[in-house]
Amino acid sequence: MREFLAGRIAITQGDLTACDVDAIVNAANKSLLGGGGVDGAIHRAAGRELLEECRTLGGAETGEAKITGGYRLPAKHVIHTVGPVWHGGDRDEEKLLGDCYRNSLKVASENGLKSIAFPSISTGAYGFPIEKAAPIAMRAVKEMLQGDPGIEKVYFVCFSGSDLQVYLEGAGDILGD
Ligand code: APR
Repeated sequence: MREFLAGRIAITQGDLTACDVDAIVNAANKSLLGGGGVDGAIHRAAGRELLEECRTLGGAETGEAKITGGYRLPAKHVIHTVGPVWHGGDRDEEKLLGDCYRNSLKVASENGLKSIAFPSISTGAYGFPIEKAAPIAMRAVKEMLQGDPGIEKVYFVCFSGSDLQVYLEGAGDILGD
């Protein structure tokens, strides 16, 4: 694990469903009713009550974020956000990806949450190149933390070692050592 921004940002490799934080962020689809990847892992670990609550949310648009309980997860809450599908970069994908991080942190702050863990949104099934996604994620989070002392700790939880390397390679320039 590497830390930045006076310890308010941590970059690590692991399984998001094991994170004991106020909220983990789910890389969901617009239905918010589950799927594969990290979405599937979160729903499996949280149990069926998560899906029952998700059914009350009425879905979400790309870039939006909505909060539920965490149920059987160690995390108290799940913040479900819908990442953009990568179509080559000319459909506002970069802005929409940043919105996922900004809106997730906004929802966390509105709910008085202090610690939040993100997966690498859109870089799996949605095909967003991680080399482009990681700097967008880190810039968006740094910008939000500088404007909101309420959020004490943000984790970027990379599932693979190669993803971790991409984040760490970009972190110095963006987050400062
Ligand atoms: N912990 C942390 N990260 C994980 C985990 C996990 N348990 N499982 C997968 N990941 C990582 C992937 O390696 C990838 O880096 O989450 C990142 C996002 O990949 P996806 O889960 O495929 O999400 P995304 O690319 O945003 O696609 C979303 O996939 O699962 C469906 O319902 C979901 O339709 C939606 C789409």
